[in-house]
Amino acid sequence: PRLRSVSSAAAERNDSSTRQAFETEMTLFFHLFTRYLVERAERKELDWERIQSPAADVIVPYGTLPHAQTPKNLQKLAVLKVNGGLGTSMGMTGAKSALEVKNDMTFLDLTVRQIELLNKENQVDVPLILMTSFNTHDDTIRIIKKYANQQLRIVTFNQSRYPRVYKESLMPCPQSADDDKDKWYPPGHGDIYTALVQSGVLDQLLAEGKEYLFISNSDNLGAIVDQDILQYMVDSKAEFIMEVTDKTRADVKGGTLIDYDGHLQLLEIAQVPSEHVDDFKSVRKFKIFNTNNLWINLKALKRVMDKNAMVLDLIINPKVTEEGQSVIQLETAAGAAIKHFKNAHGINVPRSRFLPVKNCSDLLLIKSDIYSLEHGRLVLNPVRMFETTPVIKLGDHFKKIAQFQQRFKQIPKILELDHLTVTGDVYFGRNVTLRGTVIVVANEGQRIDIPDGCILENRLVSGNLNL
Ligand code: UTP
Repeated sequence: PRLRSVSSAAAERNDSSTRQAFETEMTLFFHLFTRYLVERAERKELDWERIQSPAADVIVPYGTLPHAQTPKNLQKLAVLKVNGGLGTSMGMTGAKSALEVKNDMTFLDLTVRQIELLNKENQVDVPLILMTSFNTHDDTIRIIKKYANQQLRIVTFNQSRYPRVYKESLMPCPQSADDDKDKWYPPGHGDIYTALVQSGVLDQLLAEGKEYLFISNSDNLGAIVDQDILQYMVDSKAEFIMEVTDKTRADVKGGTLIDYDGHLQLLEIAQVPSEHVDDFKSVRKFKIFNTNNLWINLKALKRVMDKNAMVLDLIINPKVTEEGQSVIQLETAAGAAIKHFKNAHGINVPRSRFLPVKNCSDLLLIKSDIYSLEHGRLVLNPVRMFETTPVIKLGDHFKKIAQFQQRFKQIPKILELDHLTVTGDVYFGRNVTLRGTVIVVANEGQRIDIPDGCILENRLVSGNLNL
């Protein structure tokens, strides 16, 4: 029957385009892998002595930016969230962005609300683009389905899927294209440039007249479109802007901007020779770190990609499989692209533009009464007396999201909290209030239940609670 032959022809076409896409992907992986072999053979390492702090005029303080007078630049803007990573460090098996973070809303829901408001307030049509991976695609599609009938345009595209490689033999883990998920990996957010080209999204954006792309991590709740930065980008003709922020002792791992032989470059901890890691972590020598909020001129990106010039520093990410085998993943970071663009800058932004959820302590803070929501934006509760947020350290019993959910019957009230440390087997009841400095320590073999309605103010709790 005709219908059948039409659909089988479509299936064949589909099949052959899938095969072609797979072959392109493997060719791109092979380039990366070959580079790895060459660099390994050459024992290529950064020369620490050649690293300098970037010149003062390359890192612009956010406070000195002139205010945008008109929203007209927004017409040329698209917003992209890198959303290919799993929240593995929080024990998640799905997309981290599908986690409910506040008032039953996920990271993705909050982003959608932010962009909807931006479009409505300024009468513009800024699209939201989501880069997913084979790990996060289904979760993402499930969430955005809700918004199908709304004004906001949401575009998704998939990043690459590369084969993990056994550390010893350097042989690929998968045996065939459809081998198990855990034999593959998404090769870091630096893959965004290749994926934008391969998916056709870069050309589509340019055809629509979009000139600027604001990229950020999908778990960064502070990464809101900032019209002053966009205006600065337009006026300064900077082809690439990286938002950096002042480093504190808690941010020792974030990448930083350096001057290397006169070039502005991103330095990631994975690239630092082991004898200099302490140096890298020091707040004195490297004062700022990369928030991964990046602004890119799309025409310039097209130019770099057309020249095949987007070579990004390799990050070798060692992993151990469930069967206990050592493998490596060859990855790249999006910010490393800064060295390929003209007139690239850093902008030193307030910490409020970097509000990620990296662990369950971050999650407790975000869910708490310290923040409220306004159109998908987190707003510090004005009732809090201090500008700083409490320092929260939840121990290993709160590491995974499932443990966190079990151990807090309800999120405590922490408006007047300065510092909370919790270690051991601890459970929190409903309607608990924490103030000042609170330390709860359950020793080995002991369990502490903070009862419903309990108020703890400047207290050290260990052993049984007699309240
Ligand atoms: P990270 O991998 O740096 O941090 O991803 P993370 O989200 O804390 O992940 P875990 O818990 O260590 O596993 C930063 C951002 O980059 C995206 C992630 O989705 C996140 O938004 N990402 C990461 C990708 O889009 N693709 C990747 O291959 C890796």
